[in-house]
Amino acid sequence: MPDLATVDFFSDPDVSQSPYDYWDAVRAQGPVVKEPHHDVVVVTGYQEVMAAFKDHESFSAVNAIGGPFPPLPFVPEGDDISAQIEAHRHLFPIYEHMVVMDPPAHEKARSLLSKLLTPRRLKENEDFMWQLVDRQIDEFIDNGRCEFLSEYAKPFATSAIIDLLGVPEEDRPEFLAALGAENPGDGTRVGALDGQPVGLDPLKYLDDRFVGYLGERRRNPKDDVLSGMATAVYPDGSTPELIEVAKPATFLFAAGQETVTKLLSAAVQTLGDRPEYQQMLRESPNRIPSFIEESLRMHSPTKVDFRLVRRTTTLGDVHLPAGTVVMLCLGAANRDPDKFEDPHEFRPDRKNVREHIAFGRGIHTCAGAPLARVEGQITVRRLLDRMREIRIDEAFHGPAGARHYAYEPTFLLRGLTELRIEFDS
Ligand code: HEM
Repeated sequence: MPDLATVDFFSDPDVSQSPYDYWDAVRAQGPVVKEPHHDVVVVTGYQEVMAAFKDHESFSAVNAIGGPFPPLPFVPEGDDISAQIEAHRHLFPIYEHMVVMDPPAHEKARSLLSKLLTPRRLKENEDFMWQLVDRQIDEFIDNGRCEFLSEYAKPFATSAIIDLLGVPEEDRPEFLAALGAENPGDGTRVGALDGQPVGLDPLKYLDDRFVGYLGERRRNPKDDVLSGMATAVYPDGSTPELIEVAKPATFLFAAGQETVTKLLSAAVQTLGDRPEYQQMLRESPNRIPSFIEESLRMHSPTKVDFRLVRRTTTLGDVHLPAGTVVMLCLGAANRDPDKFEDPHEFRPDRKNVREHIAFGRGIHTCAGAPLARVEGQITVRRLLDRMREIRIDEAFHGPAGARHYAYEPTFLLRGLTELRIEFDS
């Protein structure tokens, strides 16, 4: 068991490789516990994480991405720091993106996104993905092996968003290159947005491109997705600035590229490590959705999420003064034994398999969850259709029972740095 007095969640190399012992040790002290290194309150209980997500009156999302980094740009005063948050909002990481907004600005930004993510658009996007998956597999299937993240997961996840947003066909190769998601075929590519969820604005390239597209479509509307976005209005009928439409669109890349890459690689890692699921899912593809849900629960690609206590409150009977930084541990909540029986076991047939919290809850619930789910399901389906046996590359990851997997050393996301697989086609 890690010693909480000495182990720092944010920098400990062992915890970044596997946070589960750390979270179990924290939970043994209670579902809501202050850690001593950064004055962050760690929430590991499923009920408590859920309660904080749903109470946006008491918990601001302004620090959702950075948590204690950088430190608060003001000294909290009194039991309600709403005015201080608003006065300093522009000093928080990615402050122009909806994920860190609070009502009413959040509602406005999200309303523009919901004009894009219509059931019809999602269905068209799904149709595109069925073709994409085969094109992507064609690139390496004859090699009998691949590095799954760079050769499949990352270019697939990026192309899915490029299509969702209706980027014109001729510009797509440039987007893939700019986002570091071309398939190099040798497992060497690293994404341009890798490791950059924290930072003032890593998405400038995308903003510029989208402002350009949307301005063009406002002048000359066509019958396409970009024109639909360009002519979207707020619920009160007012017309947004171009950049206000571009931001929700470009944020999809930050939100949906790395997270989906991590989900897809975790699912395929499980297929390789637990070959019994390959035949089972091939024979019963209707069980693939539950397999993906359990992959989300077990691997929680967004490990943690942060909130700032805006008004003094309590959570799980713990007093939280305004200004407290709270870390909502999705990965821990998803393995809370009070919610999930044998929580460290991968069991896609568990009854409450869909009740995981990997997509968050409340007003900021993941807007791309339906897309991510479909990406996972289509990927597993077509890989199993086209490959007779998927194996973990033992020369690289070691034999069954003694595997070595390396995870990205970030406190925010959880995912493999690479996954080498072999297969028979
Ligand atoms: C397995 C993949 C994914 C995971 C685990 C995931 C996880 C999350 C989580 C936990 C949040 C809530 C953040 C918070 O409350 O602070 C969130 C928000 C969001 N996600 Fe995802 N996400 C995934 C894929 C996607 C995809 C594919 C897209 C879009 C293409 C997307 C778009 C968004 C957006 C726009 C938000 C902000 C919503 C808001 O603030 O109202 N996500 N995601």
